[in-house]
Amino acid sequence: MAHLTPLLAYRWSPLAFHPSDELSAADAASLLEAARWAPSLGNRQPWRFTLGHRDDETWKRILVNLPEREQRWAHRAAALLLAAHVDTDAAPADGVVYDLGQAVAHLTVQATALGLHVRQVLTVDRAGLAADLHLPADVRPYAVVAVGQLGDPLSLPADLVAEETGLRRRRPLADLLLG
Ligand SMILES: Cc1cc2nc3c(=O)[nH]c(=O)nc-3n(C[C@H](O)[C@H](O)[C@H](O)COP(=O)(O)O)c2cc1C
Repeated sequence: MAHLTPLLAYRWSPLAFHPSDELSAADAASLLEAARWAPSLGNRQPWRFTLGHRDDETWKRILVNLPEREQRWAHRAAALLLAAHVDTDAAPADGVVYDLGQAVAHLTVQATALGLHVRQVLTVDRAGLAADLHLPADVRPYAVVAVGQLGDPLSLPADLVAEETGLRRRRPLADLLLG
């Protein structure tokens, strides 16, 4: 395998989060700073975030808008971050979601640097999040990012343990290169 910076090599998305660790204010600020410095088309910075810490009102409102399957592991995460984008038109402007994804990617790398882990969820109830978090009309919820320290995989519901402990796989590089 070609060389990879340890920040990327050690990143992975766990299901098992530590049930009692807390996300410190300094680490939360550091994660958001990483997102803030992501590149975006024309430097428009369309990303917006709402951060909930375990058991606070924001965290609970984010959690209930995840699918049941995701709630079964996400309820242990120290923090749940709503990743949203601003949009003044009815349809998202070209590439806004691409920009948001870059901001979250930056955040995941920063999380690794802080010894934290992240797992993202796209299948969220976006209308529910907008209503429950009282978001302004031009802010569109898009994804939820669970953040925390690693927990014990065996603490997961039995059907998730196999997924958590299975081998991570990627397509070979040759498959990604066209022509
Ligand atoms: C956009 C996005 C959406 C995802 N949605 C979910 C999800 O709904 N449920 C889940 O358990 N994992 C979700 N994941 C985590 C992926 O399954 C995970 O990143 C992928 O299997 C690769 O594993 P790795 O991150 O450990 O390398 C999502 C990841 C991304 C980037």
